[in-house]
Amino acid sequence: MSYSGALALLRAGVGKSGKHIAELSSLIASAASIGAVCESSQWLARRMKNAITNTSLPIVELGAGYGSVTRVLPASTVSIEIDEQRFEALRAAFPDRTILDTCAIPVLSQLTTPTVVVSSIPSVNNPQFDRLRNAIARAHKAGMIPELITYTYFPHDPLSGIFPNSAVAGVELLNIPPAFVWRYSC
Ligand SMILES: C[S@@+](CC[C@H](N)C(=O)[O-])C[C@H]1O[C@@H](n2cnc3c(N)ncnc32)[C@H](O)[C@@H]1O
Repeated sequence: MSYSGALALLRAGVGKSGKHIAELSSLIASAASIGAVCESSQWLARRMKNAITNTSLPIVELGAGYGSVTRVLPASTVSIEIDEQRFEALRAAFPDRTILDTCAIPVLSQLTTPTVVVSSIPSVNNPQFDRLRNAIARAHKAGMIPELITYTYFPHDPLSGIFPNSAVAGVELLNIPPAFVWRYSC
């Protein structure tokens, strides 16, 4: 269900029927499982893509979801999504792309060439984030991640202390909620 669908439900009054309550519960469960109210907007997706400065390197996308960021990245991007349902939706939407249904954390230790990482994996309310952070730090130290782009919904730096340079590349207001785009580089 989309965010606008949820708003329509709320306007209709969630107390009116069990069906509304069930649909709202499903929306909340879905939002909790991706760590976001809904998929990134096209404007946030483009801001993520435009934050990449090292355009000659291969790109690996972590946490592709239903593909809102995938869509604006080059076709050569390797996209990773752990959730089976989202993985299947991605495969159907992007049949010519390389999409892996695996956890992003071990993939980072398998990088063999310098790669730009574009990550949508949440840093808040994500019990695995420390492991992801450590894997990013190791891969960066090994020279495999010269640049990384991610976003947060709060002005906190999720990967502070790992890269020599970290900066807010932009704030996207046309997203629910508004998001901070972070660029990390050597
Ligand atoms: C906030 S959503 C982002 C979806 C989409 N990229 C966007 O920006 O709208 C985060 C996605 O990361 C996926 N994810 C979370 N942890 C992951 C992991 N360890 N490995 C791969 N994907 C993961 C979730 O299943 C979810 O689809």
